[in-house]
Amino acid sequence: MLCGGAAALALALAAAPAHAVVGGTAVPQGKYPSVAHVVIGGTFACTGTLVAPSWVLTAGHCGSLTGGAGIATPLAFPPPAFGVTAGTVDPQGAGGERLTVERVVIPPQYLATSGFDTTLLQLSAPARTAPTPVAGTGFEALWRPGALETVAGFGTTSSGGEAASVLQEAKVPVVADDACGAAYSSFEAATQLCGGYAEGGRDTCQGDSGGPLLATAGDGRRYVVGATSYGDGCGRPGVPGVYARLADRTLGDFVRANAPEAVADASPGAVTTPAERYDPATKQVTVGSPPTPAPATGTTTPGFTSSLAVDRTTRHTFRVRGVRVRVRCSAACSAKIVLRVDGVSAKRLGLRSTTVATAGLSRSSAGRSTVRPRLGSKLAAAMRALPRARFTVRAAVRGPAGAPRVVVRAVQLAGR
Ligand code: ARG
Repeated sequence: MLCGGAAALALALAAAPAHAVVGGTAVPQGKYPSVAHVVIGGTFACTGTLVAPSWVLTAGHCGSLTGGAGIATPLAFPPPAFGVTAGTVDPQGAGGERLTVERVVIPPQYLATSGFDTTLLQLSAPARTAPTPVAGTGFEALWRPGALETVAGFGTTSSGGEAASVLQEAKVPVVADDACGAAYSSFEAATQLCGGYAEGGRDTCQGDSGGPLLATAGDGRRYVVGATSYGDGCGRPGVPGVYARLADRTLGDFVRANAPEAVADASPGAVTTPAERYDPATKQVTVGSPPTPAPATGTTTPGFTSSLAVDRTTRHTFRVRGVRVRVRCSAACSAKIVLRVDGVSAKRLGLRSTTVATAGLSRSSAGRSTVRPRLGSKLAAAMRALPRARFTVRAAVRGPAGAPRVVVRAVQLAGR
């Protein structure tokens, strides 16, 4: 069933819906402190996220009284109607911080379309609980198709099904807009973003609305990139869940305009990559830590440490002359390192391929090795003349579980 504004009002008038996520697991207390339980009028349950000390974000259809009435100006529930508890995993709110709502802000466009499904709840006093901000500029890679996100909520564990007795979480990859548009004629790419697996099984469900679609950056920091909005059933094959597209322009600007402190921007030049990506073709998850941007000066730059799971691939982009990749294995292992330049640099260097160097390693026993993909001297000279060329290091490591540990060290391309 679709769970948009109309469904929200119906639920509000009927009994309290059963309390989470389909195909999820129980969240231990304290893991996602910013996730909030949201009750409206003592009955209709939603989920939300503390995005700044004084702001909780939930769905438009959780905050709007006029859901489904066809009025293009949403009328918000009065602030006292909201019961918000942050940092609890219990549907009754035990162990959490109770928050008092002072003002309800809904985008004026909400209800005119199926999108804009967002409500900002301003609190009467800042919460003590640590917030999770909405991803701002520089974090776009965190919500590109394939980025693996975490959903969390107090909703039902199947469509029309039973309550979960504790906050649930699951991971879902971001689905490309065209695929989502194929699944939903209501899909609007400006303010909606989809997540799910082709085979279904893991999804948000009724009562999860307003809860976060959480991105994890390679450094482990979390950002809110979406809020649960609607879906046709829950966890059905070929039918992803729809989320408010919070980190993109339209809704990002709405959040910024009302609660500027709720949006985190990356520092200029930083390259942020998601902690995990999912490839729908191979059904493989790729794990990688983020690149540390090379400083503008210095000749030798300690790169970054990347702990890789076995048979996983990591990818780092930064400006370097070469790299040393250290592989530490607790048993036999093998690795392949590929050094590439970006397409523009390849053209300027007159290269036909973007691969500039490769190196391999194979160990028959535990120990450490260093792998150095070397640039030919001609190429190295040409690259020194092109100090802005960007390298991508790709390290694919194989070995028994837990065996390899990969340390990538970058050397700056030019001493400036
Ligand atoms: N509208 C629902 C709510 O109010 C959320 C439904 C999400 N459904 C899905 N298949 N992802 O809680």
